[in-house]
Amino acid sequence: MKKILYMTDLYYNANGRKYYEEDLYITGILRRYFDIAICNPRDSHSFENDVDLIVFRNTGGVKGFKEAYEKFVERVHKNKLNTFNEFVGKGDMKGKQYLIDLTEYNYPVIPTIDSKNDLNKLLEADIYVIKPIDGADSIGLEFITKEELLNRDIKDKETLIQPMIDFEYEVSFYFINNKFEYAMYAPDKEKRWKLEMYNASDKDLEFAMKFIEWNDIKNGIQRIDACRTKSGELLLVELEDLNPYLSILEVDENTREKFITDFIDALKRMCGDK
Ligand SMILES: Nc1ncnc2c1ncn2[C@@H]1O[C@H](COP(=O)(O)OP(=O)(O)O)[C@@H](O)[C@H]1O
Ligand SMILES: [Mg+2]
Repeated sequence: MKKILYMTDLYYNANGRKYYEEDLYITGILRRYFDIAICNPRDSHSFENDVDLIVFRNTGGVKGFKEAYEKFVERVHKNKLNTFNEFVGKGDMKGKQYLIDLTEYNYPVIPTIDSKNDLNKLLEADIYVIKPIDGADSIGLEFITKEELLNRDIKDKETLIQPMIDFEYEVSFYFINNKFEYAMYAPDKEKRWKLEMYNASDKDLEFAMKFIEWNDIKNGIQRIDACRTKSGELLLVELEDLNPYLSILEVDENTREKFITDFIDALKRMCGDK
């Protein structure tokens, strides 16, 4: 059987989610098709050359192991490591710079700047959101008034500034390679991770596909996080192309089975087994 190094942090403590449950479920199935070794992302170095494929999964925010992550990505390129996701994405893999870029390109994203000098590029808002450019899991995310923002010492290029969007709900679209798998939403705004299945319309999928096409990852799992504004449009919150949590234990059985089948196929192809 082909050998997979499955990178995850089983101890990662994520708000409202149990990463390890998802990974134990997924690896429990994958082990029927591959030889699987579960590995903390900080410890992969000595195993990387012994496997057919490295699967990067629920490792938690990379800020927590920044140095190890950067060295890993360096080795991926230098040693041409076979990884899933492929490390060619422009999204979360590289921090949140893409929010600035996509704002510039007029994509439907929450308008984002990285300097107070650019405030004129945002519509006037009562409340602003600031977040670190390399953040995840809401770490360092704050809601502040315009006055606080103006008085705050914020380093250009390190902190992103957005207007606070008074959205109806948040919705996520999950893709394997370029194929849409399922969508989930959080009907209760206060409970970000209490998710339910969401019936995506053609228009919703067109929205999500714009980002999948822009990011152009051939091999990988991506999650497009969006919010539905009061006026009914979708705006991108996050393009997760590094380690998106899948909420796989919360989707219905058919969807889950289809997802796992596609996942196995994608991994087999990456291992040259197909
Ligand atoms: N501009 C915004 N307006 C309103 N809510 C926001 C905004 N940005 C983030 N949030 C809220 O904070 C959560 C986390 O923000 P996100 O950008 O996804 O960062 P993280 O990388 O920490 O997940 C979002 O899911 C959303 O609920
Ligand atoms: Mg998020």
